[in-house]
Amino acid sequence: MAVRPDDELRGALARSLEIDLLLGVRTAPLSFNPRLPAPVGRRSRPAAPPAARSASGVPPAAAPIDVGSILAPPTPLAPEELAARKEALRALDEGQVKGCTKCKLCQTRTKTVFGQGNPRARIVFVGEAPGHDEDIQGLAFVGRAGQLLTKMIEAMGLTRDEVFICNILKCRPPNNRDPAPDEISACWPYLDEQLRIIHPQVIVALGRPAAQTLLRTTESIGRLRGQWHDYHIGGPAGADAPIPLMPTYHPAYLLRNPPDKGKAWSDLKQVMQKLGLKMPASK
Ligand code: URA
Ligand code: SF4
Repeated sequence: MAVRPDDELRGALARSLEIDLLLGVRTAPLSFNPRLPAPVGRRSRPAAPPAARSASGVPPAAAPIDVGSILAPPTPLAPEELAARKEALRALDEGQVKGCTKCKLCQTRTKTVFGQGNPRARIVFVGEAPGHDEDIQGLAFVGRAGQLLTKMIEAMGLTRDEVFICNILKCRPPNNRDPAPDEISACWPYLDEQLRIIHPQVIVALGRPAAQTLLRTTESIGRLRGQWHDYHIGGPAGADAPIPLMPTYHPAYLLRNPPDKGKAWSDLKQVMQKLGLKMPASK
């Protein structure tokens, strides 16, 4: 049965409000257009080209949207390409990161934390460094901040298995202090290599150290967040096309500053818009 655009809009608004409640935030109504075509089976079917969208018979949206900026899902990877990607990540972790002694954090870590998730993720979330729980388990974002990150990912209609989650540093700084510049320069190539292998369509930098490191800037997170930036694999002179990067607040910061959750949610909605992701249906 055909769904009337008005019903669809009302449904999307209601779901948006539910998600705001889920995250414990109050935000303005949708800032993206719920009438865009749903990325049904988004991992297996390329989105319709822009011409097909406008010819679809759907009435024009009230606010014009730059459809050209929406990134269609990547074409599915052949099984052997997927296996090669998995193997490249495994080799980087087992062959280089696990035994790494390139900085002093190797002396105090319990386990290295490579990061985990989908080798063909459309989004890579990058945090700062492992905390206590991550150091024990060897997994990224498994503590309290990780639980909020899970909610943020689920609010986007995704699961942790569909994205990739990692950090700038692969070892925990003692007492969770900020990463030191020499540690960042020593560890940095691992993250760059992860991003080269996965080549996501979007990177989300969580918090100041991640955003400043990835963008090579000293600008505050308050100024960086909410805007699209470019990440250049291999540094600014890298040959590859830049990857769009959205900085937002770190979930640990959001746990201490709940009123800013609304800003983080609006940043994530920009990511959804860029990838053509629709609000998830209410449960
Ligand atoms: N904070 C981070 O930045 N990364 C983690 O993995 C956990 C907490
Ligand atoms: Fe190596 Fe990075 Fe751990 Fe330092 S933080 S020891 S560079 S893996």
